[in-house]
Amino acid sequence: MSKKIASARISEKSSQLLQDLNNSLPFDKVLYREDITGSLAHAYMLSEQGIISQEDYAQIVSGLNEILEEIESGLFTLDGDDEDIHMAIEGRLTEKVGDAGKRLHTARSRNDQVALDFRLYVQNNTRVIAELLLENIRTLLKVAEENAETMLPGMTHLQHAQPINFGYHMMAYSSMFKRDYERFMSSYKRNNYSPIGCAALAGTPHNISRRITSDKLGFTAPTLNCLDTVSDRDFALEILFNISTMMMHMSRLSEELILWSAAEFKWVTLSDRHATGSSIMPQKKNPDIPELLRGKTGRVNGNLVALLTVMKGLPLAYNKDMQEDKEGVFDSVRTAILSLQVLQEMIAYMTVNKEAMERACMIGHLSATDLADYLVKEQGLPFRDAYHITGNVVNLAEKKGVDISELSLEDLQSIDERIGEGVVVLLDNRASMNARQSEGGTATVRTLEQVERLKDWLSQQK
Ligand code: ARG
Repeated sequence: MSKKIASARISEKSSQLLQDLNNSLPFDKVLYREDITGSLAHAYMLSEQGIISQEDYAQIVSGLNEILEEIESGLFTLDGDDEDIHMAIEGRLTEKVGDAGKRLHTARSRNDQVALDFRLYVQNNTRVIAELLLENIRTLLKVAEENAETMLPGMTHLQHAQPINFGYHMMAYSSMFKRDYERFMSSYKRNNYSPIGCAALAGTPHNISRRITSDKLGFTAPTLNCLDTVSDRDFALEILFNISTMMMHMSRLSEELILWSAAEFKWVTLSDRHATGSSIMPQKKNPDIPELLRGKTGRVNGNLVALLTVMKGLPLAYNKDMQEDKEGVFDSVRTAILSLQVLQEMIAYMTVNKEAMERACMIGHLSATDLADYLVKEQGLPFRDAYHITGNVVNLAEKKGVDISELSLEDLQSIDERIGEGVVVLLDNRASMNARQSEGGTATVRTLEQVERLKDWLSQQK
């Protein structure tokens, strides 16, 4: 639909192969909204500064708005042979409004234009992702609150260690997602500076106002140095890193959900809407969703490393290598948004099998540390001695085929007479969990306190 904008230096038509390699329109068409928003702000500034006339400005505005409608209604399909989204839209504008369209690129280069479009895209999607993180935290808090008394074996080395509660476990992930949210928001703040008006690399002799475009677009201020601005992709690297870290957290949670849905655990049941069957084994219900979330972490990490590698060694300022910045970011953003939506739904719909979790607490002598702590606190033994006595008690329990919490006082005293009557109560798993009342600990009261603190924090966001 649009006529190609001729280059002044190139006389021959480009070879098809060059176009295949060079054209970014097939993927940067995603940026059409940002490109039009940026052009509207740039044109406004040009007219405010008297660089273009009011009439030209009015034509540019109506032309750009029409193009937006044409794209959204599918009339203008952005699949021509224009080099990129900037050329496609400018070409279409010139077809529509003639000379006014040709004046739009005054005091602008595609270098600051793409830096602006891409930054707007990153900033907008940072907010979308941050909002979804808050949604996920809300969901986790609900599960945590409902399960502050649901005991399960806390693990280290994937071995039963000490009794904790499932709410506490969910609060660990809530804490990770809170940090992720804060990381996205601090990137948002750090990168909220306007690139437009930097032109090719050195600024422009036109009497522009970068403050006007910056304000119009909702940035904090214009960037400091134009040479840096047209060659900087830190903002894109930050969203990639933030997504990778968030997906790494999501992947750990997914891994646990996969384990917990296995027959050996059966601690949670994923809803049928989040499980799939096998094509050959009729009895199977597979946790494909958490597996995919775990797997997608690999691809977002790849996108981060790819852009880091593209950027290393580039001389200032813009180089065409930098056109490789976009596809990975688009892919990671799409992946992050979809993954967060799916995770939230999956957690909201999963069933927590409280009995199975609590049954598992009877394996592994989870309260053994409490016996050692008792011998230190009540009998004044050095911790190392208490540790050895407790080891002997555990051996006795193993020999009898019971859990340490099931030993009688006689059994316990047969190992060491200093073990007094109160110990039997202490070795109960729930008592053991609730004894861990130190700040940030697993006791039900402490877990609920953590829930409250995150709720307070949530209410302060935005
Ligand atoms: N499509 C290009 C990109 O994505 C736009 C900037 C082109 N600038 C240039 N000087 N060739 O990076």
